Amino acid sequence: MTIKIAPSILSADFARLGEEVRAVDQAGADYIHIDVMDGHFVPNLTFGPPIIKCIRPWSQKVFDVHLMISPAQPSLKAYAEAGADIITVHAEADPHLDRSLQFIHSLGRKAGVSLNPHTPETVVEYVLDKCDLILVMSVNPGFGGQSFLESQLDKTRRLKTMIGDRPIELEVDGGISTDLAGRVIAAGANVLVAGSAVFQSSDYAATIAALRGQGGNLKQ
Ligand code: DX5
Ligand code: ZN
Repeated sequence: MTIKIAPSILSADFARLGEEVRAVDQAGADYIHIDVMDGHFVPNLTFGPPIIKCIRPWSQKVFDVHLMISPAQPSLKAYAEAGADIITVHAEADPHLDRSLQFIHSLGRKAGVSLNPHTPETVVEYVLDKCDLILVMSVNPGFGGQSFLESQLDKTRRLKTMIGDRPIELEVDGGISTDLAGRVIAAGANVLVAGSAVFQSSDYAATIAALRGQGGNLKQ
């Protein structure tokens, strides 16, 4: 699969959110990664459907909405209507993951499952055929700018094997720098989320290109 870069707007300037979305779009982002936090599932609070609806006109790229909320199921329709293309729920967020994935598909959206660092990859074993994307958290969710957890490279490799030739994207999120990107891609990821690496750089396009380029010489 081709490597995709998904800048996380968690690290953007919230006062200029629309412009920041447009800037990473024009800088070559494949997906716009949108971190929704509820102050309950994770110890931080960001935004919900009204803000996603406001930034929707600023980019035609895929809106990759990462829900760090619990429960997620009651809000899924609102995120679909706000403009999400991919809706990712945490495996730990609701008691009925299979039902949430079916519901996301019934809304006409792609469905993802995210795994906290402590959650084993086997949690997706029986829902693999309902996943369009699996998101490996390489930090404990809640904040940008944390250090990458090396333990998640092994999980990424195992998931890559489990996925086999299914058309499932494998995304890794948290602490990814241009230095680390090559190892994440080599472990099997095809979508890299990067928040602070992109938004704290002075040249978004150069950083996105560097993140993508790190996989070029590595065998998967
Ligand atoms: C963490 C979020 C990540 C995070 C990535 O809870 O899901 O998307 O913002 O930011 P960096 O790349 O700074 O770790
Ligand atoms: Zn995220």
